[in-house]
Amino acid sequence: MADSGTRSVGSYLEKIFSLDGKVILFTGATGGIGSVLCRGFASAGASVALCDVDAGKLAELEKEILAETEGRETSPSGFERVSSFTLDLTRMDDIVNCVDRAIRRYGRIDVLFNCAGINKREGLLDVEESTYDRIMQINLKGLYFISQEVAKHMRKAGKGNIINMASHNSVGMLGGCSVYGATKSAVTALTRSMAVEWAKFGIRANAIAPGHILTPLTTVTWEHPTRSRYLKERIAMERPGTPEEILGTALLLASDASSYMSGMMVHIDGGCLAGGAPWDFDTRY
Ligand SMILES: NC(=O)c1ccc[n+]([C@@H]2O[C@H](COP(=O)([O-])OP(=O)(O)OC[C@H]3O[C@@H](n4cnc5c(N)ncnc54)[C@H](O)[C@@H]3O)[C@@H](O)[C@H]2O)c1
Repeated sequence: MADSGTRSVGSYLEKIFSLDGKVILFTGATGGIGSVLCRGFASAGASVALCDVDAGKLAELEKEILAETEGRETSPSGFERVSSFTLDLTRMDDIVNCVDRAIRRYGRIDVLFNCAGINKREGLLDVEESTYDRIMQINLKGLYFISQEVAKHMRKAGKGNIINMASHNSVGMLGGCSVYGATKSAVTALTRSMAVEWAKFGIRANAIAPGHILTPLTTVTWEHPTRSRYLKERIAMERPGTPEEILGTALLLASDASSYMSGMMVHIDGGCLAGGAPWDFDTRY
């Protein structure tokens, strides 16, 4: 009896956390965090449409995912396990084409994962208009309009799920990140707008706010003698996170396990927002 109870709980959990049959359109697919999440999603049974600027890197990632999923070209539900689409989020025509091609290939998009993002560290008085425009275009405008484009199809389907990559900078600022931080704060606000306005179409939206994760975007900071010390003092776990440590939350948000979750931002930051490493104090241990 206990065994069959355990089995049914087990199969229920397996079902709600499964990505089998889900079509995920993923921007920033070849990046440090993106590539790890795309591999994870494909191995959890999803069909992943990899979207990014560099066709060569996309082809490489596609090959790696196929090899890791034992050469099976289709997911258990029969869809292509992985495909790739070049996408420059600064170009509106690219956004429309990319979504159109993915829809023609799969017939639907179940999950849109907005992971693409850039940063350029400059002081508030140094930032020039071209830098401002580029960060805004990729991190905010591109994310806004690809979401709008995908949501049109999700609305027709009566269901959909959007996951936006926010940041610790959505709530806490570092020096030299004014434009990046402004975009990431806006992404959080936008996530709430999507959750509120599109719930009636069966669409939910959530954001992930990574703290300090070691990737090509952040290596320069972690290799910096004073900035890496500064960061460690502000992280309770006193270390950067890895892209793999984002995967569990990403899986939760992409799957039906989070079906009643919308408009939320989940922080994954090793205890940074909680207060960081404690100051010196006397203990009896
Ligand atoms: N690494 C961290 O510590 C950290 C912390 C918080 C948030 N984030 C966010 O996570 C996401 C991924 O970061 P990452 O560290 O993997 O960075 P990354 O630089 O490795 O990846 C970013 C991806 O965005 C793509 N991209 C850049 N310009 C584009 C454009 N015009 N059109 C389409 N795609 C474009 C890049 O090609 C790249 O694949 C970003 O949104 C970033 O802001 C990262």
